[in-house]
Amino acid sequence: MFATVLLLTFCGISAIARPEAAFDEDHLHPELNVERTGSVRAVTEELSATFWNGNAQNTILKKLTKKPIEDVAKNVIMFLGDGMSIPTLAATRVYYGGEEAELAFEKLPYTALSKTYCVDSQTADSACSATAYLAGVKNNIGMIGVTASVKKNDCDAMLLEENMVESIAKWSQDVGKRTGIVTTSTVTDASPAGAYAKIANRDWQTDAAVEASGANATKCRDVTYQLVNWAPGKHFNVILGGGTRNFLNNDTVDKFGSLGKRTDGLDLINQWIADRTAEGRTAEYVWNRTSLLGLSEDTDYVLGLFSSSYMPYNLERNIYTVPSLEEMTETAIKIARKGNGALNGYFLFIEGGRIDHGHHAAWAKKAFDETVEFSKAVQRALDMTSEEDTLIVVTSDHAHTMSVAGYPDRGNPILGAAGTDDNGKTRLTINYANGPAPVDSSHDYGIDNRDDDNYRFPSVSYLSSETHGSDDVGIFARGPWAHLFTGVLEENTIPHIMAYASCVGDGLTACSSTIRNVASLALPLLTFVLFIYI
Ligand SMILES: *[C@@H]1O[C@H](CO)[C@@H](O)[C@H](O)[C@H]1NC(C)=O
Ligand SMILES: *[C@@H]1O[C@H](CO)[C@@H](O)[C@H](O)[C@H]1NC(C)=O
Ligand SMILES: *[C@@H]1O[C@H](CO)[C@@H](O)[C@H](O)[C@H]1NC(C)=O
Ligand SMILES: [Zn+2]
Repeated sequence: MFATVLLLTFCGISAIARPEAAFDEDHLHPELNVERTGSVRAVTEELSATFWNGNAQNTILKKLTKKPIEDVAKNVIMFLGDGMSIPTLAATRVYYGGEEAELAFEKLPYTALSKTYCVDSQTADSACSATAYLAGVKNNIGMIGVTASVKKNDCDAMLLEENMVESIAKWSQDVGKRTGIVTTSTVTDASPAGAYAKIANRDWQTDAAVEASGANATKCRDVTYQLVNWAPGKHFNVILGGGTRNFLNNDTVDKFGSLGKRTDGLDLINQWIADRTAEGRTAEYVWNRTSLLGLSEDTDYVLGLFSSSYMPYNLERNIYTVPSLEEMTETAIKIARKGNGALNGYFLFIEGGRIDHGHHAAWAKKAFDETVEFSKAVQRALDMTSEEDTLIVVTSDHAHTMSVAGYPDRGNPILGAAGTDDNGKTRLTINYANGPAPVDSSHDYGIDNRDDDNYRFPSVSYLSSETHGSDDVGIFARGPWAHLFTGVLEENTIPHIMAYASCVGDGLTACSSTIRNVASLALPLLTFVLFIYI
């Protein structure tokens, strides 16, 4: 309680905690008078006006040469940083390069804000959010690929045709594009499942989980079963991530020594290989980095599962056996653009799935490191593609409760202290509104080893797992029709714009409006020709 009161005091709501006199309205920033020590990181050229004016003028020149691209996007790559809030971006810049550093997607020419609330919840989870940014429809929290008419665990409602919604992966397959999903989470977790699943509970990733909620698993198929047996999942050319346990029966040991989680006796990995091979295509199952990097670019289908559950955090990854998100991205693009993909293009969904997990544990360092890895993957995709024919969209599914605050010196470590509080105790730059390490006002945070990968940053209230935040997230875009990503958008607009750019789906597309233009010209033209002829 005392901790809460202290933090409220920082926000200026001091009347609750202290007598009115403690708050001095004429001195709102008393800390600005603190002498800056020698620890400020000096950037010499920043001392001159020429530097700043030159920078700004160059930015204008760059923008003036930038023309919107109005051709059809042959390829679309959607990147999703799970839980990558806007404060996470500012903090990650300092973590890896300094305040002035830019993440790969921060260099993209067009940005918008995305409103992520769901139909029944102010704050999104990854399931309702994925339904919005992949299928174009907002729905209820915890549900994937079904409308908001479906309530949690309602098996009958989820199976009604009118309640199911298809994703842009399906729309893209319908016009012959190659498709795929990549994640550092499990390939059946809520975000990637948004590309293929229709399910009334995101936790139904095995038949056993469906049965555990009292539903019939033969009728109400789990997410992993849907991935391997249903369209569009079974047509994905690329499936890369973690989560072997959801594919195997509970008497089967996976490549990493864990037992499967299924109880229906199915081996969905072997079934995937058999089904794809039966179609007369090359289908590769890989489970380590060497095999992934050794894949032929002529591979039709690849299923790569690199861990029993989530893939390890990058900071804990065996870099010789477990691929990075950047490496998976490179392979995914190589395979997606081959063969048929070369003709009709491709749609890829690529997720940095563990930024979110770092934040839930208040492991801010891991969240920042995962954001750096995500940025590297985006950079690889930018380098491998052309903005003339490939639309790249980078966004997030929801925010978190982390704040970046105080007036630390320029160049101060982001995991460091932001001065002292009015009781003389060290304050940190990074804090959470809720989380597993509630603030302890008697503790001096100055003595902690905050560089430890598993250091949990303090929070106002105690929750074993920190929550998502409701604030908007960013959208960053490059390529054909990227200029439609401006302003404050409802999150479910995202796949509609990607579909417009790549001419897929039932809505407006760049192609249909061209056809309409042609059609609107055709009638007057025909009339004119007839008139001349007669
Ligand atoms: C479960 O659903 C399947 C398929 O609809 C059906 O054949 C079976 O009888 C159902 N089982 C129970 C216990 O209701
Ligand atoms: C596997 O599932 C069956 C059926 O639910 C159960 O009886 C058995 O104890 C499970 N085995 C293990 C090793 O968990
Ligand atoms: C990687 O997987 C291949 C099979 O695809 C296997 O032959 C090889 O031994 C594995 N490498 C390691 C380091 O486990
Ligand atoms: Zn989360």
